[in-house]
Order: sequence, then C-alpha cells, then structure tokens
Amino acid sequence: MSNVIIVGTQWGDEGKGKIVDWLSEKADLVVRFQGGHNAGHTLVIDGNVFKLSLLPSGIVRENTVVLIGNGVVIDPFHLIKEIKQLEEKNININPDNLIVSDSAFLILPIHQIVDEIREKNNGSKKIGTTGRGIGPAYEDKVGRRGLRICDFLNKDEFESNMKKIYDFHNIWLCAMGEEKQDYQDAFNKLWNIGKTIIKFIQPSWLIINNFKTSKANILFEGAQGTFLDVDHGTYPYVTSSNTIASQAGIGSGIGPTAMNYALGITKAYTTRVGSGPFPTEDNGDDGNKLGTRGHEFGTVTGRQRRCGWFDAILVKQAVALSSINGIAFTKLDVLDGFKEIKICVGYEIESKKIDYLPSSSVQQEKIKPIYEVMKGWKGSIAGIQNIEDLPYEAKLYIQRVEELVQCKIILISTSPERADTIVLENPFDVN
Ligand code: GDP
Ligand code: IMO
Ligand code: MG
Repeated sequence: MSNVIIVGTQWGDEGKGKIVDWLSEKADLVVRFQGGHNAGHTLVIDGNVFKLSLLPSGIVRENTVVLIGNGVVIDPFHLIKEIKQLEEKNININPDNLIVSDSAFLILPIHQIVDEIREKNNGSKKIGTTGRGIGPAYEDKVGRRGLRICDFLNKDEFESNMKKIYDFHNIWLCAMGEEKQDYQDAFNKLWNIGKTIIKFIQPSWLIINNFKTSKANILFEGAQGTFLDVDHGTYPYVTSSNTIASQAGIGSGIGPTAMNYALGITKAYTTRVGSGPFPTEDNGDDGNKLGTRGHEFGTVTGRQRRCGWFDAILVKQAVALSSINGIAFTKLDVLDGFKEIKICVGYEIESKKIDYLPSSSVQQEKIKPIYEVMKGWKGSIAGIQNIEDLPYEAKLYIQRVEELVQCKIILISTSPERADTIVLENPFDVN
C-alpha cells in the first residue's frame, strides 16, 4: 500500500493529467483535493483524447475509483456536463466509481458573474482568471456563508441560505451599477441538477479511510501549480486555493503521516496563463517556438500560454515547499530542434543576486534571470520510451536540472501519449 501526491511545480499545465493517468494503473483510488473546473487536464490514450476539468484523471481507468474531495469547489452544472461528455466516449460513471464529498463547496451561478465583473473592473490589474467563479466560491467558504454538497439534502435550508448569498453579492453588484441577480430562477435550476448528484455523495474522509484500511494505493491529484498557490505563489496573481502537497490531506480528510511520496510534475521549460510575474518569459523567437512546438493553448479558456525557458530557481523552491521526493519531467520533446537551451540558474534584482523567488510582486517584477546555456540535441526524441535511447545532450540537460533543483527525475515524458513515458522509478513501488 502506498499513498502518492502529485503537484505541479510551476504555474500549472505541466502535464499532470497525463502523468496521473499513467500512474493510475497502480492506483485503486484517485482523489482531487483542491481547485475546481478552472483546471484542464488532457490525456491521450492510443490516439483518443480526453479533456478533464473537475473529474479526477483516474476516471478513464476501468478499475479505478475516483473521488472529488472536500477541498474542491464544484459547479454542479459543469459536473453533469463533464460526466455526460465522458459517457459519450463510453466511460461508465456510476456511484461505484465516482464519489463526491458531502462537504465540498458549491460554485453558484452568481460566483461566475462576480468573477467576470471583477476582472472587467480590474482593467490592466486583472488576474486573468478562468472566469469560472473559483475565487468568489472560496471566499464564501471562508466567509462561512457557502453552500455545500450535503445541503442538497435539505431543500428549505438550501433555499434560504442561497438567498442570503445572493443578497450578499447583489449589494456589491448593484453598487457597481451591474444587474441584480435573481436567486429564484438559479435556485430552481440548481435544485433540479442537485437531484442527479445526490447518488454520488459520501463522506470523503470515511471512504479514504476505508481504502487505507484495506491497504489500497491512493493517488492524490493536484490541480494548478505551486506558484498559483494562494499562500506560496505569486500573490495576488494566484488561484484561490492551496495547490502544494500539504493540501492533499486537508482537501480530502487524511493526515500527513499517511503520505508516502510527493511527485512533482515539471515541464522542461516554463509556461504561464493569465497575468502576473514570470521571470523567464520570452516574448521573442524562442518563446514563440516553445509555444508553437508545445501547442501552448489553455484547455479551459483557449488562451495562448506565455512561454519561456526552464527556471531552476522556481522549481527548486517548489521542491522545498512540497518536500518533493521525485520529479516527472514532461514535454522534453518540445526542446527538439533548439541549437541552444537556456536554464535560469539565478535571479538578479537591482544588481543584487538572489537564489529564491521573493514574496513581493513588486520585487518579482524586477527580477532579471541569470542564464546558463546548454547544447541542444539533433533529431527528435518524441515517443522515446527508454532512457538509453535519449541523445547524450538530452541526458546532460536532465542531469543539470536534477543538480539545480536538488531532486531526482524519475519519469520523463516524450509525447502526450500515455505509453511515451520513460520510467526510472514508480512512486507506488517506493516505500
Ligand atoms: P495539466 O493541466 O498539468 O494536466 O496539463 P495540460 O493537460 O493542461 O497541458 C499539457 C499539454 O501537453 C496537454 O495537451 C498534453 O496532452 C500535452 N503533453 C503532456 N505531456 C507531454 C509531452 O511529454 N510531450 C508533448 N509534446 N506534449 C505533452
Ligand atoms: P491546471 O490544473 C494554468 C490560473 C488562471 C489565473 C489564475 C486564477 O490545468 O494546471 P482562477 O480561475 O483559478 O481564479 O484563476 O490561475 N489558473 C491556471 N493556470 N493551469 C491551471 O490549471 C489553472 N487554473 C487556474 O489562468 O491566472
Ligand atoms: Mg491544464
């Protein structure tokens, strides 16, 4: 039995979905523990493409149970839409393979409206959210006025609490000159969709504890990435949840002593979608080439992702923040064809050298990256499945990254396909 946590070590879109799907072969249970349908995870299995936002990526495996934990915020309309999309692809979803935590919070239609209007009003200071109501839903959670999945069991209570939430947000909407939102219509639709969700509801901590007792393998699937973490990321240009490994327990209901391995998912270069500091961002030819070769467009919003070279300072910090045991290094094939590959090995702020990301966004914007240049390789490494088949220069690049981020690379991904994964160590086999 082993419990493995996976987290993104950059700004999201590192290829977590592919790696979670690959690892799910050995997982009995896959648990999402934060975020919501702001995530976009793409899996490619024998040419079939699956795009998931809210459902854990283990769902496509026949014998794997998936669980949406209490730390996730759920848009019930989206949940049903995603279930239907998968059923159209012959994935069977029922209460035996999908569990939704009774204490997960709901994203209401008004949350999405507040999210969009705030962004509109923020102008050039906008965060660049996915517009899915994630922030406002988490605010209502910590504001102790949120609605939870278990509230679908009490109609009167649900309705009166939902009205209070609408009253709360309507004050601000009206003050901003926006249209007042009617809770009644939203309630009717929400209550109806709730009826189709009730069958999946269970206490997540209890289910996880039962799996643990039966010595099952559990995989905790993080969404977003370390530098989108609300405490440890590039605040305020972050998401509204904790994305680092410690959140796995809080967002599902299991303690830290039960965890065996933290796997960091790290892209061989860097991308970011939305606003905020990005020290190695490259707006020139190299950034363009990375974006084109890596098909760097967001799964959720279709926005073009900002691109730049690998930032070892950032990933070293992510390794420390989540006590990462090993790294899955993804999209290495995207570096095919570059004569030179740059790695950021240090930062300079106003002529002072530092080797970590400072907390202040004003300081972060001033960072000038210090680069080391490595030789690229000839030919294509796409689809390689054995380490011996990688060119010498690619092996040197991997070695240098390991040294700089102070963590070993245990998996290397060379294409979007599940099978195109070089395995040096399987986290479920380490104890
Ligand atoms: P996630 O949010 O971390 O799950 O990542 P996304 O799915 O949003 O973005 C990663 C994209 O890269 C997806 O389109 C994947 O299919 C693709 N991908 C994953 N691993 C690799 C790889 O090793 N090589 C290439 N070329 N693409 C990959
Ligand atoms: P996955 O799981 C990349 C970014 C948004 C925005 C910020 C806040 O696919 O890696 P939010 O809607 O969460 O309030 O937006 O966070 N963001 C992501 N960027 N990958 C994601 O998820 C993201 N989820 C949110 O672009 O900058
Ligand atoms: Mg993504």
